[in-house]
Amino acid sequence: MTNTLKYFIGNWKMFGDFNSLKIANQISNFSRHFKKKGKKYKVVLCVPHTLLNYFNEKLKSKFVSIGAQNCHYYQNYGPYTGSINANMIKKVGAKYVILGHSENRIEGETNHLIKKKIESAINQKLNIIFCIGETAKEKKRGKTFLTIMKQIKGSISKKYDLNKIIIAYEPVWSIGTGKIPKTLELKKIFKFIKIKFKKTFKTKKPPVVLYGGSVNPNNIRIFSSISDIDGFLIGGASQSSKKFIDIIKNYYK
Ligand code: PGA
Repeated sequence: MTNTLKYFIGNWKMFGDFNSLKIANQISNFSRHFKKKGKKYKVVLCVPHTLLNYFNEKLKSKFVSIGAQNCHYYQNYGPYTGSINANMIKKVGAKYVILGHSENRIEGETNHLIKKKIESAINQKLNIIFCIGETAKEKKRGKTFLTIMKQIKGSISKKYDLNKIIIAYEPVWSIGTGKIPKTLELKKIFKFIKIKFKKTFKTKKPPVVLYGGSVNPNNIRIFSSISDIDGFLIGGASQSSKKFIDIIKNYYK
């Protein structure tokens, strides 16, 4: 069930300007030199749309891939003031796009809308980081498994190129709060997602599943003991090159 390739994906949210290139360069330099025997990992930084082109052109080495944090569902140019579609972010160098983040679900994104976005991003051959996760209320009511299955079934179709979809399990109550799930809970949830995904979409390979929510250099060792976790979607801590680099270092300690 375990994928050996691990992902460290930064989600900068509404952070960063041209000066932040130095953060990305520091992370990229680190990834270029940090080799661990038998360990394969990939680093992605999902930055605001305003930085995609700049980072894509200016990053000194290609040891970091660039991603976007959302896109519009409509494939072509259209009357959607203020919106940017999958084709547009692809053209300026994005290789990845985060879709279904809880901060956008809170603003009204539904499973159905996210499905349309996933479909258009797949058509552009982008890699999708598809976020799922329960709220504090859903957790309290014992609805965690139900919620994440609804999100998966509501936004993914088996006709998609499923190799392009990375799932990020991010419990909403953990994002930006410093709270993280218990190890046993995580083990169960990751097993559940992988088994159900394979069953639902009749795939041979389990999906890549990341954990996201308050990941930092101090708690990363807790996660590294869970082999089903294929990597991390890191918010706040990814805005500091030191913290992001320490997360990778400590993961492999
Ligand atoms: P956090 O955010 O690491 O700041 O909790 C994670 C995310 O929103 O993807």
